[in-house]
Amino acid sequence: SQRCRYGPLVGAIDQGTSSSRFLVFRAQTGELLTYHQMETKQLFPREGWAEQDPLNILETVEECIEKAVEKLEKLSIDPSDIKAIGVTNQRETTVTWDRRTGLPLYNAIVWHDMRTTETVDWCIARTSSKDKNHFQSTCGLPITTYFSAVKMRWLMENVPNVYDAVHEGHGLFGTIDSWIVWNLTGGPRGGIHVTDVTNASRTMLMDIKTMQWDSEICRFFEIPKDILPTIRSSSEVYGQIVDGPLHGTPISGILGDQQAALVGNRCFSEGQAKNTYGTGCFLLCNVGRKLMMSNHGLLTTVAYQLGADAPPIYALEGSVAVGGGLVRWLRDNIGIIQKDADIELLASTVSDAGGCYIVPAFSGLFAPYWRSDARGTICGLSRFTTKSHIARAALEAICYQTKDLLESIILDTSRSVVLTSLKVDGGMTANNLLMQLQADLLGIPVVRPSMAESTSLGAAMVAGAAKGIDVWEIHAEPINSGTPEAVDTFMPSITENGEFNKVLSILNRIQLNMPLH
Ligand code: G3P
Repeated sequence: SQRCRYGPLVGAIDQGTSSSRFLVFRAQTGELLTYHQMETKQLFPREGWAEQDPLNILETVEECIEKAVEKLEKLSIDPSDIKAIGVTNQRETTVTWDRRTGLPLYNAIVWHDMRTTETVDWCIARTSSKDKNHFQSTCGLPITTYFSAVKMRWLMENVPNVYDAVHEGHGLFGTIDSWIVWNLTGGPRGGIHVTDVTNASRTMLMDIKTMQWDSEICRFFEIPKDILPTIRSSSEVYGQIVDGPLHGTPISGILGDQQAALVGNRCFSEGQAKNTYGTGCFLLCNVGRKLMMSNHGLLTTVAYQLGADAPPIYALEGSVAVGGGLVRWLRDNIGIIQKDADIELLASTVSDAGGCYIVPAFSGLFAPYWRSDARGTICGLSRFTTKSHIARAALEAICYQTKDLLESIILDTSRSVVLTSLKVDGGMTANNLLMQLQADLLGIPVVRPSMAESTSLGAAMVAGAAKGIDVWEIHAEPINSGTPEAVDTFMPSITENGEFNKVLSILNRIQLNMPLH
């Protein structure tokens, strides 16, 4: 039969907290041709612990590639048109494996896992400053449970297998990108052991000025450098896939998922920001080539480096641990909704939350508070409260957390960043009520692209643009411009509700440099 010709295609592996996906894009237009998605198993063996089986992660990735390729065949598209593959992934999640067998030495410890609370206290007590920001000027991050170095330290202290493998020289460390690329480029026989600057910038172990593993921090955590992957840029050919339907295809892009969404949303100019509503919420603001350290609880992170010879671009990031995770909790643990999408209808049967507030601090509070001892609360309950009010309070809680992040960005950038709108993406942005509440609360328009797959698109863009691949040109505007990109814009509405107006005016006052009181 006749094959469809779409020109060069680029694949994106998107390994997130709750699912794995493989998506195929057309390089010339950025159009999504097909994809396959599978949920991954989440393990919660104890209160505060969160793990995943690295082999399950790998199997789902491989199956997604196979199924998406089958779908391409059904569309009469030749899979050999896929010229490059990009990898994007949940960040910080820590995997350790044996280089001789390729087998994991322990389950992956997931980014929001809280088991390292005591390790964190112990680490802070060992610094000369006794300050959680002791290493901030080198790695851009505070010492908290979130980052990989602390998780790896816990593994070496508590899992004899890991300790032995590391000290006998056959243990390897990697974030999810490294685990996937090591396996796809060599399987149990051992592929290449690499990571990119964005993922490395989430370990705490990289100096974000030199883009190298930092000797002092590695020594502090007692993590030998030879277990760490080689740090590369986000856009270059790392190696080829060795098995399966895409064997021989180069992997030429790696980006942490939040940085990938920044790229997919084309936030290439200083001051451009996006917020992704996934399991957590992650707001990243491009701050350009100059490093900027936060005084208001944000992280400094590498946004992207588009080629080995290109300069690194930095971002300020506000990370919220629980966003969509709160909706999932209402579904799975409390049972007031059957499926995630039901929350919108339930919350829209009331006009406000009836005085009810939720603080979803399931794994402590991340930015800007960094309180691992915080726990969730629902307050303001009365005889009048219904499950609709609780549903609405849940959506508002997600919006309030985003407002905290925006305020910190404005203060950190000395009000030089004046956000006139917020670009958004991620699964929860399909919820129109959430988007409207967010616009009301921020007092600025919330802009949602119709193509919601910004994360995967970002990974495909950097992979297709890599030197030697050159099938994708990265533009600040969508490639099929001429036709403006379809977006939905949620304008802030003036409501009768005093609460919203009060908060709205606080954000406007910060932006306009007016006193808050
Ligand atoms: O830092 C964690 C983040 O990368 C996870 O993203 O979309 O899988 O919740 P997501």
